[in-house]
Amino acid sequence: MGRVHSEGIRRLGNVEIVGIAASSADKARAFADEISVARATGDYRELLADPEIDAVHICTPNALHFPMSKAALEAGKHVLCEKPLAMSSEQASEMVRIAKERNLANCTFHNLRYYPQVQNMRRMREAGELGEIYAVQGTYSQDWLLYDTDYNWRIESDANGPSRCFADIGTHWCDMVEHITGLRISSLCADLQTFHKTRKKPNRSVETFTGKTLQPNDYTDVVIDTEDFGTMIMKLGEVARGAMTVSQISAGRKNRLCVEIYGTKGSVTWDQEKPDELWIGQRNSPNQLVVKDPSLLSEKARSYADLPGGHSEGYDDTFKQVFRRFYKTVADRSAAVEYPTFEDGLRQLRILETVLDSSAKQAWLPVK
Ligand SMILES: NC(=O)c1ccc[n+]([C@@H]2O[C@H](COP(=O)([O-])OP(=O)(O)OC[C@H]3O[C@@H](n4cnc5c(N)ncnc54)[C@H](O)[C@@H]3O)[C@@H](O)[C@H]2O)c1
Repeated sequence: MGRVHSEGIRRLGNVEIVGIAASSADKARAFADEISVARATGDYRELLADPEIDAVHICTPNALHFPMSKAALEAGKHVLCEKPLAMSSEQASEMVRIAKERNLANCTFHNLRYYPQVQNMRRMREAGELGEIYAVQGTYSQDWLLYDTDYNWRIESDANGPSRCFADIGTHWCDMVEHITGLRISSLCADLQTFHKTRKKPNRSVETFTGKTLQPNDYTDVVIDTEDFGTMIMKLGEVARGAMTVSQISAGRKNRLCVEIYGTKGSVTWDQEKPDELWIGQRNSPNQLVVKDPSLLSEKARSYADLPGGHSEGYDDTFKQVFRRFYKTVADRSAAVEYPTFEDGLRQLRILETVLDSSAKQAWLPVK
């Protein structure tokens, strides 16, 4: 993510990357050289001590989000932190508190809200075009942990937290659905499954999505305590109902984040793997497949599309959209906050903890 963030920041034009901190001085130097940044360190505290630095992006494994964000906020930096915001809602609450106390810009990076067609669905719902929402369905499915030889820091709960699949991608789905519908997931019943009770851990470190070339005798067997797959049925607000799955074991599904929203007047369906397309379902007239074209988007959704119709706007463009809005509030603390904050990250952790609790008890539970 450090790489994708760096590219996104540089697309803004008014923000300069002045330093890279990584897990070692060598790794930091190598990456800083690759992207032509002068300063590199193996100790992030060195950057936090520099009064010239206004803001930091935290793109490290989940367990580091809390200590790094806390230290950054206490050093007076604005913080944009990757999701999930922390290892627990308790940690996230503290992050919310410190950011508020110090009046610092804070963003939980639920960037997937900012595809133009996702904004389009939100604006259609706001304009009443979907009517009252009855049902929400969908999935976030990937395949990169299908084999027991697939490994990453996310497999280890010490670095990742007590939930893997749901924390990593389920939180994006829930954030998106709440953002589009304006409804809150009020109670839920979840079931999490770990298909691989043990996995083969490589004997050397592997960066995400690049560990596909090791040989069988390069591994050690380890016991797995986080889920590969999950299902959740839910109530949204008082009336609406929903069902979703999360998966890291679905062969062929790379980043299939699919959201289907059914209202009294019509429905919409969107799939992240075809981000420019929005399916609009109607009962008494032909369905539509709308291709992203800024001139056809509502005014508010249009500000999330920078390219003309027919030119794809995808995952990396969502970074630019969030960063642009985040840095607007860094430059002007009175500017409107148009991005997910630490409070939104805290909200997702509360849902996540309810999911874990529900699965353990095999019971419906209200979201805390
Ligand atoms: N928003 C999104 O779409 C999205 C997508 C993927 C990952 N993420 C999130 O981004 C974060 C990173 O995931 P990733 O897939 O890039 O992982 P990764 O393993 O590819 O990268 C993690 C990086 O953190 C660095 N690191 C580890 N310890 C460090 C330390 N003490 N100081 C400085 N750097 C340190 C590592 O050197 C590595 O470069 C996770 O929290 C993940 O949930 C978000």
